Amino acid sequence: MAILEAQNINYVADGNQILFDCNFSLNKKEIVTISGHSGSGKSTFVKILASLLTQTSGKIYFEDENILDLSPIEYRRQVSYAVQQPTLFGETVYDNLVFPYDIRKQKFDRHHVIKALKTVDLKESDLDKPITSLSGGQKQRVALLRNLIFVPKILILDEVTTGLDCDTKASVHKMIDYYMGNYDLSVLMITHDNEELKHAKKVVYIEDGRIKEGTENE
Ligand SMILES: Nc1ncnc2c1ncn2[C@@H]1O[C@H](COP(=O)(O)OP(=O)(O)OP(=O)(O)O)[C@@H](O)[C@H]1O
Ligand SMILES: [Mg+2]
Repeated sequence: MAILEAQNINYVADGNQILFDCNFSLNKKEIVTISGHSGSGKSTFVKILASLLTQTSGKIYFEDENILDLSPIEYRRQVSYAVQQPTLFGETVYDNLVFPYDIRKQKFDRHHVIKALKTVDLKESDLDKPITSLSGGQKQRVALLRNLIFVPKILILDEVTTGLDCDTKASVHKMIDYYMGNYDLSVLMITHDNEELKHAKKVVYIEDGRIKEGTENE
């Protein structure tokens, strides 16, 4: 069953058409990889799916409801978008991981956060580290955890592994496997990485704003 369904999405910005009649669906607990040339419209498409941009025409259904009828804040908690170059805020790792609790007016759950840190090969003592002392790969992992402390139904990863070393990439994949194995999580990830494409279960290509048939590996 599709948890997310996009029908005939067109997007025009400043008189330029960027997306043309894009149809796409993502099933519950499925992982789909999106690839395609730079500038082909991948980020634009997933930002529309994440309700960070609004399509010019076409419809998007999340659990059979038109997303324009849903509260954007609630929707973005369920369909969480992670970018390649995330911004950390505050001073420490803790400041970033307490944020998901603060915005929900909930108490910080230290035990849960320590477990989450372990899924990306970080540890309890990292909580007190200043963000300025983190490597690029550590920053990316902290940012991703911010998306996963409260596990969404869909996680959209926009080239989050680009530029990371092999070990950090492996940590990110371990994290994805952990959360997909333990929660009802669907994942949509954009990548150019040949290794990731080789291991991808299902790949959808976007070329010049058009979705091409996907390929499925076993
Ligand atoms: N707000 C905007 N106004 C005008 N053009 C835009 C706007 N946003 C994106 N574009 C154009 O839309 C096209 C698609 O951009 P997009 O960022 O979606 O590509 P992409 O496939 O994610 O590329 P990359 O792999 O480099 O990240 C590009 O030609 C870009 O210049
Ligand atoms: Mg992009």
